[in-house]
Amino acid sequence: MKTNRAEHKELIIAIINQKGGVGKTTTAVNLAAALGELDNRVLLVDLDPQGNATSGLGVEKSTGMKCVYDGLINGEKAEDLIVHGIAEGVDVIPATINLAGAEVELMSEYARERRLVEMLEPIRGNYDYIIIDCPPSLGQLTINGLTAAQRLIIPIQCEFYALEGLTKLLETEKIVKTRMNKELDILGVVMTMYDSRTTLGRQVIEEVEGFFGDKVFLTRIPRSIRLAEAPSYGQSILTYNPSGKGARAYRELAKEVISRG
Ligand SMILES: Nc1ncnc2c1ncn2[C@@H]1O[C@H](COP(=O)(O)OP(=O)(O)OP(=O)(O)O)[C@@H](O)[C@H]1O
Ligand SMILES: [Mg+2]
Repeated sequence: MKTNRAEHKELIIAIINQKGGVGKTTTAVNLAAALGELDNRVLLVDLDPQGNATSGLGVEKSTGMKCVYDGLINGEKAEDLIVHGIAEGVDVIPATINLAGAEVELMSEYARERRLVEMLEPIRGNYDYIIIDCPPSLGQLTINGLTAAQRLIIPIQCEFYALEGLTKLLETEKIVKTRMNKELDILGVVMTMYDSRTTLGRQVIEEVEGFFGDKVFLTRIPRSIRLAEAPSYGQSILTYNPSGKGARAYRELAKEVISRG
């Protein structure tokens, strides 16, 4: 199987679920790293004021540092915001706490939901994949992510109430698709923090597959302490624990993403 998109146009993927702590950032960071390792040119855009994707890949946040906020609100060029080569094949547009203001400031801006797509326009051709890590809300930042993306990946944690909130998410996706972004589609649903030893994990997968059918990726991301540790070393799982089950899973997911893309 071909492992990069060299002969295709770029693909912009938003990692989205308004529920907190389901593995969005872990997936954004490690999928970006795995796509990069497979020889793709990848840009990871941190659209969450928490900045977890930024720090998770070891980008030092300094005071006065430029971030995605400056592009969205101050009209700065994306190319001036990019931190290059933060992992193999991976560049990052970081988020700092400044981004917290954007949610409110965007409300009064003209064409506010198109800020991100316009910001990315001049540089998108430089990449095979642009991965957007969305915050846990359906506010203006997430709407910008949905408007800029061609595809969505929805991480769902293997736990009770896994499907909670998804109706609202899918409604929002439909509105953005109808009004702003006809191209938008779901690339897949990824089950995270899976524990094969529990019946709960298997039941939740059955339930989610009943709802999403073959949109659910075959790759399941296992619960792994290594995946949780890696960000505190500023590394993806691919360098922090290259041969562990977490790295294997994200490499497999990257291959599925490429074959579906
Ligand atoms: N497969 C996994 N195994 C173990 N821990 C995990 C796994 N995936 C994520 N975690 C941990 O669970 C927590 C939430 O994960 P993560 O930050 O990726 O979720 P999120 O959806 O981005 O959260 P938020 O909604 O706050 O942005 C983190 O502490 C992370 O390290
Ligand atoms: Mg996150």
